[in-house]
Amino acid sequence: MSVDLGLEGARALVTGGTKGIGAAVVGALREAGARVVTTARTVPAGAIEGVHFIAADLATAEGCADVAAGVVDRLGGVDVVVHVVGGSSAPGGGFAALDDAEWFRELNWNLMPAVRLDRALLPGMIARGSGVIVHVTSIQSRLPLPESTTAYAAAKAALSTYSKSLSKEVAPKGVRVVRVSPGWVETEAAVAMAGRLAEQAGTDYEGGRKIIMDSLGGIPLGRPARPAEIADLIAFVVSPRAGAATGTEFVMDGGTIPTV
Ligand SMILES: NC(=O)c1ccc[n+]([C@@H]2O[C@H](COP(=O)([O-])OP(=O)(O)OC[C@H]3O[C@@H](n4cnc5c(N)ncnc54)[C@H](OP(=O)(O)O)[C@@H]3O)[C@@H](O)[C@H]2O)c1
Repeated sequence: MSVDLGLEGARALVTGGTKGIGAAVVGALREAGARVVTTARTVPAGAIEGVHFIAADLATAEGCADVAAGVVDRLGGVDVVVHVVGGSSAPGGGFAALDDAEWFRELNWNLMPAVRLDRALLPGMIARGSGVIVHVTSIQSRLPLPESTTAYAAAKAALSTYSKSLSKEVAPKGVRVVRVSPGWVETEAAVAMAGRLAEQAGTDYEGGRKIIMDSLGGIPLGRPARPAEIADLIAFVVSPRAGAATGTEFVMDGGTIPTV
């Protein structure tokens, strides 16, 4: 983004910033002049210039505590938190395939990292009377796919409701809390998945892409979003230019959600 977002020197934590949407958010915030700490379980092959990295499993309470302490240690506090970490490893097969372990895995991956990190980092923001938190949710919370995403979608819906409640509590104290809800995003993992589906169906990459889009009921725009498009939206949302946005959800899904 060439427009000045007013983020020069802002101290930002981006979880899950080594791949996909998170890596694009790290890039966008760096470009806007922010000082960034990011996290993942795997140490990236090459250092990201100007970005501090903390290795941690955010699906655990210990991992969240390490990151919360680490970000304050490295940046002296935090002005912006972008919760990107999340995903799903649940098997297909509907409700019957989801035992307690699968349910808790999805909740520990998609809800609890935000709950734990916010609990640790919000007191500092409230003391300064400013800050922005973004929770990356998913259109699945409103458009679940019963064969394979029930637990993931329910965990994202829980994240969404938590985010709304938090926004009401802390907006009067100067902290904005916003949700960004992507539809299908063509990350490296998504490209690989489309490739696998294409191979299984004996078609080309475009055919694999169409299989995924059809499973969502179609994408009116005709393509998935790019990670950089989601990242630019997030960079705007955390900037002072979006200073009146709180407690709301920004959807970027190419029109996938079929209702108003
Ligand atoms: N891609 C989509 O189509 C889409 C659509 C809607 C919503 N979303 C949401 O957007 C977010 C990012 O998705 P993505 O597709 O960009 O993900 P991705 O490409 O799989 O990247 C996930 C990032 O998070 C890190 N990570 C994963 N689990 C972690 C854990 N337990 N502890 C610490 N770090 C962890 C990964 O690194 P390591 O593996 O090394 O830990 C990586 O840096 C997720 O919340 C997802 O639910 C994605």
